[in-house]
Amino acid sequence: MRTRPWRSVALVVMAVAALVGIGGVASGLWSVLWGGQTTAIQGLAEEVPWDQAIVVPSVAPRPTPSAAPTFDLAQHSTSDPGSPWVIVNKQHPVARDHEPPDLVDVDGVRVRAAVEPDLRAMVEAAGGQGARLVVRSGYRSYAEQTDARAAIEARRGFAHAERYSARPGFSEHQTGLAVDIDSGSDPSCNLQTCFTRTAEGAWLSEHAWEFGFVVRYTEQNTGVTGYSPEGWHLRWVGRELTAHLHQNGIGSLEEAFGVSGGAEYVAG
Ligand code: DAL
Ligand code: ZN
Repeated sequence: MRTRPWRSVALVVMAVAALVGIGGVASGLWSVLWGGQTTAIQGLAEEVPWDQAIVVPSVAPRPTPSAAPTFDLAQHSTSDPGSPWVIVNKQHPVARDHEPPDLVDVDGVRVRAAVEPDLRAMVEAAGGQGARLVVRSGYRSYAEQTDARAAIEARRGFAHAERYSARPGFSEHQTGLAVDIDSGSDPSCNLQTCFTRTAEGAWLSEHAWEFGFVVRYTEQNTGVTGYSPEGWHLRWVGRELTAHLHQNGIGSLEEAFGVSGGAEYVAG
């Protein structure tokens, strides 16, 4: 076959047209120039029909993106002290006269009714795995928090108390949604930093979320919560929220909801 330069140019134009998806232009040009004959296109070993010679990569249809199920963080209030998701910290106090309406007794401590089933289930599950959780305290009224805080301050000083004990009106214990847990295996670590290294503390840091509780004050979230780590202080928020926090690696309630916190007390 004689070489005709204009045909080479046309061939390049057609190849480009085919590659950018203008198949009609390419095949129309082909019909005009070659009238349907077959040819040896440079670089191809055999004479092959045009439509078999150049393979235009097909673009796979994109799957319709399915919306990831979003967790509704607005289903409960974070400011109503009666809400399971209320956030109480140094920036967000509880009213002095707030008292939960549905306190129940669990092994000598008071918690809100919604907390009881998960608390009992957690203590039982932990016991089955060698962690003896002893529920030490739950609800504390404003007056009781006043006493607790004063006792710590008298024993350890103001600076220590600021890191480990809420001023009255600023404690989660007043909501009836917080509990402190003692170690059945090593009571010398009760309310101590070493609690996290007891069988009970280790079990809680791994499993409390499965029962709707968060270890509220950890090494990682001190800047956000304004408290030093307390492996024994659990806050119940319900299993739905703790699953969300766990799955998304969210380390504090403040971060989950974008609520302010920190070591400074709100003015006034
Ligand atoms: N120990 C916690 C911070 C409280 O007093 O509520
Ligand atoms: Zn506590």
